[in-house]
Amino acid sequence: MGALDTSKFGNGSEVARAYIPRPPSAGVLCLGIEGTAHTVGVGIVDEKARVLANVYDMVRPEKGGIHPREAANHHAELVVPMIRKAADVAGVALRDVDVVAFSQGPGLGPCLRTVATAARALALSIDAPIVGVNHCVAHLEIGRAVTDAEDPVLLYVSGGNTQVIAFARGRYRVFGETLDIGVGNMLDKFARETGHGFPGGPILERAATEGGSLLPLPYSVKGMDVAFSGLLTAALQLHRKGERFEDVAFSIQEVAFAMLCEVTERAMAHVEKDEVLLGGGVARNQRLQGMVDRMARDRDARMFVPPAELCIDNGAMIAWTGLLMHKAGVRMSVEDTVVDQRFRTDEVDAVWR
Ligand code: ATP
Ligand code: FE2
Repeated sequence: MGALDTSKFGNGSEVARAYIPRPPSAGVLCLGIEGTAHTVGVGIVDEKARVLANVYDMVRPEKGGIHPREAANHHAELVVPMIRKAADVAGVALRDVDVVAFSQGPGLGPCLRTVATAARALALSIDAPIVGVNHCVAHLEIGRAVTDAEDPVLLYVSGGNTQVIAFARGRYRVFGETLDIGVGNMLDKFARETGHGFPGGPILERAATEGGSLLPLPYSVKGMDVAFSGLLTAALQLHRKGERFEDVAFSIQEVAFAMLCEVTERAMAHVEKDEVLLGGGVARNQRLQGMVDRMARDRDARMFVPPAELCIDNGAMIAWTGLLMHKAGVRMSVEDTVVDQRFRTDEVDAVWR
């Protein structure tokens, strides 16, 4: 869709006022909808990877873990107003959007289906092509776009995901991952089960600055993979035995982040890359950043961290990856947009690279 010729309407007419012309340099505009888990978000980006809008909202369960159906209802309620809000923030009309992208997986079925339905409806109503995007690949691509990283190893650490990903032979490949729960879920569960609220990551980070004694916790690295549920159980036991919350929080961070550094470093050595990129909500953690940075410097490599609002789940990363795919010629029919709860990172043919 090209920009509308506003000269037809004359200054001050209703239509001309309602229509904000697109800046000439923006090129292709892509609107992306994220909704794999807790967060529903809508982002609009242009061809220069400028984030024109990035609005989101997260379900915060009062008790217990995330309930997929409740999260999906939350997303269903917010997605349409959020699409409008994103267009407002970006200063574009929805019909200016050239491509609609959405998070096709991996994630929770009801959440994925909700955003896919919204994306299909939007694409049909504005007559734009639709692209389904792999959520994990999107974390990496937005990081490459907004930092100086060119070909990094991604340490993707969020609530549900913990993966070490790098580009090799045409695909993003997973070099290591968690064998049980994501590192963020481990932090969240520890905070919740000790009565400290949600999300646990920032709570533990704050507490850890007041802690200092390193308590014994299981360090489980198996080849290139990590595991966190044993560490969680042991940490809860320490807390039950009366160890200070601050000291346990400190110890969890030291041990869990050291495990992540070890597998990331091994992946960097294996694929001979000298850049490491952080992504996912846990990437906001200063201690993790400090440890990864130190590891990178020790091997003459560089660490990159995207701005916080692009580290967490967000629509802008989906929009940007969708835009890359579209420009590389990826076209999807409605049948191709079926969601995939177990969408593997290495299933994606990265034709845009
Ligand atoms: P995904 O679907 O990718 O698994 P998610 O729903 O877990 O994502 P994110 O927004 O990427 O969403 O990450 C949320 C996680 O990040 C939570 O587990 C939260 O505790 C953690 N987190 C946020 N800030 C920090 C921090 N400062 N330190 C450690 N962990 C953090
Ligand atoms: Fe994520």
